[in-house]
Amino acid sequence: MDANKQLTIGLFGFGVVGQGLYRILQQTPSLNASIKRICIKDPAKKRDAPDALFTTDRDLLLNDPEINVIVEVINESEPAYRIVTTALRKGKDVVSASKKMLAEHLPELITLQQSSGRSLLYEASACASIPVIRNLEEYYDNDLLHSIKGIVNGSTNFILTKMFEDKLDLKDALLLAQQLGFAETDPTLDLEGYDAVNKWTLLLNHAYGITTSPGDIVFNGIQNIKESDARVAKEKNLHIKLVAQAQKLKEGDVAGFVLPQFVRQDDHLSFVKNEYNGVVIESGFADKQFFYGKGAGSFPTATAVLSDISALRYQYKYEYKKLHHHKLLRLYDDFHLRAYVSFADWTFIPREKFEYIEEWHAHADRKYLVGILHFREIKGHRWWKDNNTSLILMPDPIVEDMDVRKLKKVSLELAGIM
Ligand code: HSE
Repeated sequence: MDANKQLTIGLFGFGVVGQGLYRILQQTPSLNASIKRICIKDPAKKRDAPDALFTTDRDLLLNDPEINVIVEVINESEPAYRIVTTALRKGKDVVSASKKMLAEHLPELITLQQSSGRSLLYEASACASIPVIRNLEEYYDNDLLHSIKGIVNGSTNFILTKMFEDKLDLKDALLLAQQLGFAETDPTLDLEGYDAVNKWTLLLNHAYGITTSPGDIVFNGIQNIKESDARVAKEKNLHIKLVAQAQKLKEGDVAGFVLPQFVRQDDHLSFVKNEYNGVVIESGFADKQFFYGKGAGSFPTATAVLSDISALRYQYKYEYKKLHHHKLLRLYDDFHLRAYVSFADWTFIPREKFEYIEEWHAHADRKYLVGILHFREIKGHRWWKDNNTSLILMPDPIVEDMDVRKLKKVSLELAGIM
């Protein structure tokens, strides 16, 4: 390591994260890192930093031979992609927090990182202050990672907490999340699960060496969750969380998705409130480990960026070792899920798709069932998202090895609904 290496930074973006980084760097002089120039979009905005630092000309940063690190924390994916790829091609190290851009271009960026010989680090892009990427990459570098599940979006967790504990409605809770700087510029990215699935795409790569794209992962957000769902959660002593999950199956491949889930009170994730994120990792012999920390906001996210900048002093780079394992893992879809589905009108619910129905409550205004269905009845279908339907997975939702077919007829006949 070269502790004296001077890191001269060209910073793209001076929003929530960029400003946080600017402040934190002022308090970490031992890092030998300084911001030479900041590229912003709107020169008219009043900013709390010397005017001389700012420019709207990207090339002033990208073509400056003295700048050896590009930190990119802007909002828009396409410009972020151009900045990151150009910087790597020009021989600069890059730190990025653009999870959407990274998730959409990861395979290509990995190749570019390798051919450029530089580092591309992005710890801030998933779970902000929790060092989950580097842990998955370095510590869980073996075959023993049984499962990983997490709350990876701070805004939706904040909103669920405010809705269920402080009785705010979704709109007010979202407004608060926006005011506090947690939400994306387009908050549907948070609410409808896009942000979480982008992060999960990245984490699946570092956890299991799975290369996939956000569009190939089954996901939803919290937009369909109803008050009546919260009442059911309360009756059953459960919490509702947006959970990203991946689990190795017996066949060796991995079940993975991002869906709302009922979480037991003693589950580590039930302790994760407000904008905090949490990740529970289960490995072969060590049992469970729980990572917890702020998943959004200026300083928590900037801290992860700072840690990446600091790792550049010793030329740290992700090696993506799991991409070179003898058996490449992939997302598998031959398993069952235990799910709760609430709906206004049962004609929209394909009951015949359920292998087994454990509960059927058809009398309330808002009806619901709990049952087991094949993952493929969700993947590639929309019935569970459309027509005011809300699907929430039950705790420990993945069902393997069950002779569900035998149970199916019995349960439906007993309930008198076939
Ligand atoms: N909108 C994101 C979240 C910001 O709420 O988690 C942090 O990535």
